[in-house]
Amino acid sequence: MLEAILLVGGQGTRLRPVTVNTPKPMVRAAGVPFLAHQIARAAAAGVTHLVMATCYLAEVFEPYFGDGSAFGVSLEYVVEDEPLGTGGAIRNAARRLTGGPDEPVLVFNGDILTGLDIAGLVDSHRSAAADVSLHLVRVEDPRAFGLVPTDSEGRVLAFTEKPQTPEEIVTDQINAGCYVFRRSVIDSIPAGRPVSVERETFPGLLARGARLHGVTENTYWLDLGKPESFVQASADLVRGVVPSPAVPGPRGESLVLPGAEVAAGAELSGGTVVGAGARIGAGAVVEGSIVLDGAVIEADTRVRASLIGVGATVGTRTVLDGAVLGDGAVVGADNELRAGARVWCGARLPASAVRFSSDR
Ligand code: GDD
Ligand code: MG
Repeated sequence: MLEAILLVGGQGTRLRPVTVNTPKPMVRAAGVPFLAHQIARAAAAGVTHLVMATCYLAEVFEPYFGDGSAFGVSLEYVVEDEPLGTGGAIRNAARRLTGGPDEPVLVFNGDILTGLDIAGLVDSHRSAAADVSLHLVRVEDPRAFGLVPTDSEGRVLAFTEKPQTPEEIVTDQINAGCYVFRRSVIDSIPAGRPVSVERETFPGLLARGARLHGVTENTYWLDLGKPESFVQASADLVRGVVPSPAVPGPRGESLVLPGAEVAAGAELSGGTVVGAGARIGAGAVVEGSIVLDGAVIEADTRVRASLIGVGATVGTRTVLDGAVLGDGAVVGADNELRAGARVWCGARLPASAVRFSSDR
């Protein structure tokens, strides 16, 4: 038996109306709610019992994931009345675990897509006899993450969440958001109040001489904090750059879900996914994008690295590159939106309203 906790919640993630009008974990990446990939990957690594720690109503998740049997895991939900923070959520969810004090417990941040060898991390945790093992990756700019310097044997020397000064940036090795805890260590986290595992638990454990073991595996790793990385993750899942048993179809340049209509002469590439009931017009070129259910991409459009919300419309000859259209948004014909442009849910942009290129 292998148990895990999946962290899905926190204050900032509740609703993001600027992107799509759904809590992000349920926005579809490669055709299914993003969390389905995490659950399926955990199950494939041997996890048999998964506790989802949320501060949303379970109604958001339960209709889709149910008891987890479709994924081959036993899935339970624990809902916090108020966000308890990462450490508080882990402590709270651990009530549902059934393993003994020395058993390993996996913990996953819910907003990460990774190709990590999860079973390998558990093995390494066991052979290091660690209290906590952390997956670490190297990134170019570590400032938005938890910095985790280690010694030559992988022993964690410090944990600095979101460094504030240049002196604090002592490494480019960061916390990748996947841990293995010894069960008894989780039980030592204070219950019933918010606790940050990054700011309180890890530094506290280090100060008490606990054995924190870092495993630097430079595998596929993407933090989905920004919509553009969410779009990238979906494209990489469709193309099979990172494997997920939850992708509903064969890997390839595009994934067209049942009920979508793609006109002859439209070009789909780069891991584009087209949701149920969506329509792509003739001559449209759609690359590396997410087209959610019921969206309409009219003829002769160019759409790249963009997210098109549920029921949104992209008018003919419009160019989108790195744009996000909220659910139900309408962008009229002959517009050009680039570089992180966001169109609010339900907003309507008239024809020929916005352009990024110079006058012609
Ligand atoms: N249930 C619950 N309750 N979950 C929470 C809460 C809470 O109060 N607060 C945060 N979470 C969940 C988030 O939904 C996310 O899945 C995970 O815990 C991490 O929280 P974020 O808010 O996304 O943190 P971050 O992205 O700023 O930083 C974290 O992730 C980085 C890697 O992406 C830290 O763990 C960093 O150290 C790490 O480098
Ligand atoms: Mg995050």
